[in-house]
Amino acid sequence: MTLRHRIAAVAGAAVAVAVLAAAAVIYLALRADLLGEIDSALHERSEQFVHDPDPDRDGDQVCASNERSFPAPAPGSDDLRFGGAGGFIQIACRDGTIVRAAGATTTVPLTPAARAIARSGRGSDVSTQAVGDTSLRVLTTGTGAGAVQVARPLGEADHELDRIVAVLAIVAAAGVALAAALGALVARTALAPIDRFTRRTEALSHDPDVSERMEVRGGDELARLARSFNTTLDALERSVEAQRHLVADASHELRTPMASLRANIQTLEAADELPEEDRAALRADIVGELDELTALVADVVELARGSTPERALDDVRLDRVVRALVERPRVRAAEFRLSLEPTVVQGEPDRVSRAVSNLLDNAIKWSPADRAIDVELREGILSVRDHGPGFAPADLPHVFERFFRAGGARGMPGSGLGLAIVKQAAEAHGGWVTAANAPGGGALLRIRFGD
Ligand SMILES: Nc1ncnc2c1ncn2[C@@H]1O[C@H](COP(=O)(O)OP(=O)(O)O)[C@@H](O)[C@H]1O
Ligand SMILES: [Mg+2]
Repeated sequence: MTLRHRIAAVAGAAVAVAVLAAAAVIYLALRADLLGEIDSALHERSEQFVHDPDPDRDGDQVCASNERSFPAPAPGSDDLRFGGAGGFIQIACRDGTIVRAAGATTTVPLTPAARAIARSGRGSDVSTQAVGDTSLRVLTTGTGAGAVQVARPLGEADHELDRIVAVLAIVAAAGVALAAALGALVARTALAPIDRFTRRTEALSHDPDVSERMEVRGGDELARLARSFNTTLDALERSVEAQRHLVADASHELRTPMASLRANIQTLEAADELPEEDRAALRADIVGELDELTALVADVVELARGSTPERALDDVRLDRVVRALVERPRVRAAEFRLSLEPTVVQGEPDRVSRAVSNLLDNAIKWSPADRAIDVELREGILSVRDHGPGFAPADLPHVFERFFRAGGARGMPGSGLGLAIVKQAAEAHGGWVTAANAPGGGALLRIRFGD
């Protein structure tokens, strides 16, 4: 079922329910009105009969005299049939016997309620009763010594109600049909802008140009949807741009080491003429260059992961990660002063470890051999402080950029991707990293994984 059909059905059903409810209320109100009229006529007739001074018709006397009929009441022969306009009359005695008007051909049987009123001679009751095929409205009124029952057929009223039902049914059917048509119209009108929106997004996905944007008009829900769609496209464009830049920068950066490697390999081809120690030096150069290239490619691949976490996060004991990295054989040469609080972060262990390792490597690279490196982990923040030259103030805003290397770093191994990887790892965990010069000189890097 399409959204359109659903909206049409719901709108149609809502109107249909309203129409049917209105019809039902009208029917019930008219019915109550008609019955009310009949009931008040019955009351009037009953009153008239009971208060008639003619002793012959006194219910008590009639019952006491053991007669089985009483003189027909005033309005005449009408009262002897159910159809009479004045109402059919009979007397119910205390013992449950029924005394009919003289000449009457039929009786209304006593209901339990009527029998109770006749026995006590008090109270009154109106009910609808079927006698043969005739539906009667019967009023029973206690007279002290029995009860008077006045009845009127409902035929006329039923007929009237049937007519009303027929009219209401036609009106309701027309209403439901109108509701269905209106529902379809509402659905079409409501969904037209969504149709346009969908066509636009489909066009965008067929021709994936990330610089295209949805047109935003007004401030309604659809405009909000278009705006949030555009925000997604913004993010997508940024990410596509970032990847494009990374590939361009990486290929640019790879060119120099590749060229130097190529030159060295060419020299090695003519190695026969070289003295043995030059050849050994050349081979060592080539291996060194290959190592650097491998590291650079690994860094580029790491950066290409972007800053969204890929895997399910683990609990990572950050203090243990730091300790394990400091105790690597290669790193032992440098002296570290550790002050590590046990700290658990939610993260990807390899990314966290890679980031910390990059910070330690930089510190080792820049720290004078005779000065210790301070590594502190407190309240979730890891600080790495060395006693090297620190950052030039002009470089500070750029140190986290890809391939950025300060002038003084040119002669050292590295590609300028280390801190970019650190920043990306911190942000992938919802954290941050800052670089500054420590008060007493040297670089101070602070990082936090998670918020
Ligand atoms: N501990 C440090 N002390 C001084 N300068 C640093 C330190 N760490 C990083 N830098 C500067 O920031 C630049 C970028 O660092 P990084 O991204 O790790 O690249 P790389 O180490 O490959 O040069 C470095 O070239 C260097 O100029
Ligand atoms: Mg580095």
